[in-house]
Amino acid sequence: LTGVEVAWRGEVGSEELERLHAAGFERRESPYDWRGQLERHSLGWVTARADDGALVGFVNVAWDGGVHAFVLDTLVDAAWRRQGLATRLVRMAEDRARAAGCEWLHVDFEPHLTDFYLEACGFTSTPAGVIALT
Ligand SMILES: CC(C)(COP(=O)(O)OP(=O)(O)OC[C@H]1O[C@@H](n2cnc3c(N)ncnc32)[C@H](O)[C@@H]1OP(=O)(O)O)[C@@H](O)C(=O)NCCC(=O)NCCS
Repeated sequence: LTGVEVAWRGEVGSEELERLHAAGFERRESPYDWRGQLERHSLGWVTARADDGALVGFVNVAWDGGVHAFVLDTLVDAAWRRQGLATRLVRMAEDRARAAGCEWLHVDFEPHLTDFYLEACGFTSTPAGVIALT
């Protein structure tokens, strides 16, 4: 995939990330301190920028401070989907988490993304659980 640059811990503005995130998860945009959250709580993140500088992809890698890292907020701009970009972003997340000494990379997802995470990205399916706290 040409015309896009992928970076670990690349510069990212809260506003542009909120725009991408809100569009991807089909919700309204609202002011949010993404930069603060990432700096405080993430092992790192991956950005994808088009040649014109636009943020077109993102993956957040949260961390327990030990050997567990967690993929969150995998996002690709609608115009850039189905070209392997998200797969590339997750692969960089995997490589960097491994390089940082993590031993496990976790993710959870909705059923329609099973092929993306298990086939394209190489995650193994495992029982997991979640409680909606609100
Ligand atoms: C999910 C998302 C990040 C995928 O980005 P992408 O760059 O299009 O993904 P890729 O091109 O790397 O996909 C690789 C493979 O995964 C599978 N896949 C990707 N998106 C899929 C989808 N929406 N439905 C079904 N399979 C999908 C396909 O097998 C695809 O290969 P193919 O295009 O040759 O069929 C993107 O659709 C997105 O931002 N969605 C909205 C936000 C979201 O739901 N994020 C996930 C949070 S867990």
